[in-house]
Amino acid sequence: MHDTRPNQEHYSFANAPVPDEIPDASLAFLKAYTGEQNLNALKERVFDIWRESRERLHVYKCVQTLMFLEPRITKHSLYPTILQSFQQAQKSNLPPPRILDAGCAYGTDVRALIHHGVPASQIAASDLHDGYWKLGQRLYNDSERIHAVKTTFGDMAVPAGAVGAVEASSIEPLTYIAASAVLHVFSAAQCEAFLRRILSLLEFKGIFLGTCVGALQEGEWRRGRANEGNAGSVVRYLHSAKSLKALMEQIGFVDVKVESHGPEDPTASDDPVKKIWIEFQGKKP
Ligand SMILES: C[S@@+](CC[C@H](N)C(=O)[O-])C[C@H]1O[C@@H](n2cnc3c(N)ncnc32)[C@H](O)[C@@H]1O
Repeated sequence: MHDTRPNQEHYSFANAPVPDEIPDASLAFLKAYTGEQNLNALKERVFDIWRESRERLHVYKCVQTLMFLEPRITKHSLYPTILQSFQQAQKSNLPPPRILDAGCAYGTDVRALIHHGVPASQIAASDLHDGYWKLGQRLYNDSERIHAVKTTFGDMAVPAGAVGAVEASSIEPLTYIAASAVLHVFSAAQCEAFLRRILSLLEFKGIFLGTCVGALQEGEWRRGRANEGNAGSVVRYLHSAKSLKALMEQIGFVDVKVESHGPEDPTASDDPVKKIWIEFQGKKP
């Protein structure tokens, strides 16, 4: 059983102040997906979920800053192609693709896919534990709509069969695996193990895609807690675009593309670690 509570000794924003206000713009997706027009009602719901997350779960920066309200997969350059492949399969007799959101947290990317017409039955979601996912069902109030989404919870940053490793036979085969904002919560060893597990889970010609925080110069970052309950605190590792591409190719991905999308936080000019946003993709041969 994973201990999911925030621990101040680890990399966590659990001590950070409550956000004063939720900008209306941050509610755009929640409003569009749920159809709820009353922004105050949505804000109350978000605050409730946020408070509960803070009490019970690890507080990642994207939790603290409410970034989880906005889908990330939709910003990936492959997203239109992925949607198209689902649409084409629906029109033809081809077997439909299947996509996994790995490190799904509340499941915002899962909802974006559903909102854009991907059948829930073709989607899977996975995370280290089900804490955020369960809160996501309250946030989006959509238990019926996501009923057909297959879920599996466990560690994806260790080899299959290791203690705590995610059991994935129920969610295969997988044409696409997406990991938004996940790689940077790992140590170098966890990141490599995660990429290996992803490659093993993909079907042939399947595609891995995602985004993460990286650094202009790869290296260890600050003490983190990517693997709650299993490994305790870990030293997080930020890849550069170059080192991530080299690692993905070494592990066996082909057609690997890794691009920097500029500074992670343009206002953090005094941070000695020059953090960047990275977009990546790679194929199983
Ligand atoms: C920074 S959050 C990003 C969540 C979400 N994908 C998003 O874009 O908002 C990182 C996620 O990775 C998950 N995670 C951390 N370690 C993991 C592991 N070893 N195996 C699977 N998921 C893990 C966390 O529980 C968390 O939900």
